[in-house]
Amino acid sequence: MAFNDTLRILLPFLFLTQCLQNFVRGEPQVPCYFIFGDSLVDSGNNNQLNTQAKANYLPYGVDFPEGFTGRFTNNRTITDIIGQLLGFEDFIPPFANKMEDIIRGVNYASAVSGIRDETGKQQGDRIPLNEQLRNHLITVLRITKIMKSASAARQYLQKCIYVVITGNNDYINNYFVPDIYPTSRLYTPQQFADGLARQYSNQLKDLYFSGARKVAIFGVGLIGLTPEIIGRFGANYSMVNDAAQLFSNKLLPLVNDLNSHLTGAKFTYINTTGITDTCCPVVQDLGTCVPGSTPCTDRTQYAYFDGFHPTDVVNEGFAGRAYNEKLPSDASPYDISRLARL
Ligand SMILES: *[C@@H]1O[C@H](CO)[C@@H](O)[C@H](O)[C@H]1NC(C)=O
Ligand SMILES: *[C@@H]1O[C@H](CO)[C@@H](O)[C@H](O)[C@H]1NC(C)=O
Ligand SMILES: *[C@@H]1O[C@H](CO)[C@@H](O)[C@H](O)[C@H]1NC(C)=O
Repeated sequence: MAFNDTLRILLPFLFLTQCLQNFVRGEPQVPCYFIFGDSLVDSGNNNQLNTQAKANYLPYGVDFPEGFTGRFTNNRTITDIIGQLLGFEDFIPPFANKMEDIIRGVNYASAVSGIRDETGKQQGDRIPLNEQLRNHLITVLRITKIMKSASAARQYLQKCIYVVITGNNDYINNYFVPDIYPTSRLYTPQQFADGLARQYSNQLKDLYFSGARKVAIFGVGLIGLTPEIIGRFGANYSMVNDAAQLFSNKLLPLVNDLNSHLTGAKFTYINTTGITDTCCPVVQDLGTCVPGSTPCTDRTQYAYFDGFHPTDVVNEGFAGRAYNEKLPSDASPYDISRLARL
C-alpha cells in the first residue's frame, strides 16, 4: 500500500484522537463490560501459559502507564479504548488475574486463539473461544454469589456490553498453515468460512444464554494487508484476504439472524479494515517484536506496532468508529454508544 493511501486512512484516526481528548468522564454508560477474543485484545491472559504468543516484555507497553502487561501493542488495545469511551475509569482485568474485582467485567481474550479449538496450537497453549465462554460461566456464578440472587445477576448481566474480536487466527494460524493443519485440504475457502460462521453462531448463542444481550462482534480485518502476512505470502497475500472476507461477509447476516431469533438480543457487527507498516522489528514467522528491540520513535505515525497489531492511534480510530459510527456501514444495526443506551 502506498504511503499516501496509508496517510489517507490514518488522517481520520488522528482527527478522532483530538476529539476523544475532549471526552468527559462520569459514571460508565453501562455497569459492566466483558471482552472475548484473540491477541488484538488480550491484556495478559497468555502471560502464564506455555506459549510463544506472549507480549509481557519490552518494547510492548512502551507507552502504557503500567508498562508491559501482555497487551500486544505499545499502549491501549481497541477494547481498552472502547472501555474508556464507555466511561470506565479502570481497565477491565484479565481473567488470569483471579483476585481482581470482577463486577465491572472481565477480559477473557487469549493470543493465537480462535473460533476453532485447535487454532494456534503450533505456538503452544492458548484459551480458545469455547474455553473463554466456559470461563465466563465461572464469572456469572461468582456474580450471582456476590448479588445473592440469580434474577438480580441476570438483570445486571443484560445491561453489560460484550465485545468479541476473533476469527483472525482461524485463518493465519490454521487455514493458511497447511504444514500443521489439514483444513485447507478438507475445505474450500467458502466451506471453511461457512463452517466457521456456523460454529461462531453457536458460540454467540452460548454467550446469549449466559445472559449477554448487548454484543458487538468485529469482522476479521484485512489481515492479508498486515506486514506479517505480506512477508509470509508475498504476492499471494490477497488470497488470505479474500478467504477471510468470505467469513466477514457472513457476519452481518449472522447478527441479523441472532437478533430476529433470540428474544431481547442486540448483537451488532463492527466492520473492520486494516492498514500496513510495523513500528518494532519483528521475529520472522512469528510477527511479534524482537525482545528488547528499539521501537520507532514517532509511534503516532505507525499503523502497526508489530507484524499483526495496531498501535494506539489506530486502535483509537477503530474503537472510535465502533463506538460512534462515522458511516452507516461501520456498525449494524447499532454502534456501541447506541447499544449502551438501548
Ligand atoms: C497512551 O495511553 C494514554 C491513556 O491511557 C494516553 O494518555 C497517552 O497519550 C497514550 N500515549 C501514546 C504515545 O499513545
Ligand atoms: C503463490 O502461489 C503460487 C501458486 O499457488 C505458488 O506456487 C507460490 O509458491 C506461492 N508463493 C508464496 C510466496 O506463497
Ligand atoms: C464494510 O465496509 C466496506 C468498506 O467501507 C464496505 O465496502 C462494505 O460494504 C461494508 N460491509 C458492510 C456489511 O456494511
